Amino acid sequence: MGRPPVLVRALYVSRAVGPQTGTVTAQILAGAQAHNAAHGVTGVLCQGQGLYLQVLEGERAEINRLYGQILQDRRHHDVQMLLFDEVAERRFAGWSMAHVVLPDDAAMLRMPPADFDPYALSGRAVLKLLDDLLAAGHRLAP
Ligand SMILES: Cc1cc2nc3c(=O)[nH]c(=O)nc-3n(C[C@H](O)[C@H](O)[C@H](O)COP(=O)(O)O)c2cc1C
Repeated sequence: MGRPPVLVRALYVSRAVGPQTGTVTAQILAGAQAHNAAHGVTGVLCQGQGLYLQVLEGERAEINRLYGQILQDRRHHDVQMLLFDEVAERRFAGWSMAHVVLPDDAAMLRMPPADFDPYALSGRAVLKLLDDLLAAGHRLAP
């Protein structure tokens, strides 16, 4: 009987390098999903307004290793961890990485888009926003 793995959830924000389109993000995810499925990583990648917001859930050592790779990825920069927590269970268990679009309209963000600055917000508030976007069906297929 081994010890159960320590499960963590990380949330970071970054700025896209070059034009940010659904296609570019889909390409990033095409590679990511196979890796994530094989290594027990779940989460959400949200794209919009030139930003990436990503939740990574999984075994602590795996999330640390993956985050280290993501930090070095030239397709984005200004990567900042907003939240890193031990969790009892996954929030996004169904997705090896859900793809969500950050809308431009103010209603969903509950603030004018010009004021939406995840670098200045609490990580918990950003996590809640991602939950709301998923619940509101802002997910792209697949
Ligand atoms: C915004 C963003 C999110 C990413 N998310 C993941 C991910 O969830 N899983 C993953 O394996 N790679 C992800 N990547 C890609 C990694 O940075 C890296 O390219 C990938 O792990 C392959 O690395 P390798 O070519 O050195 O094996 C992401 C990249 C970016 C720019």
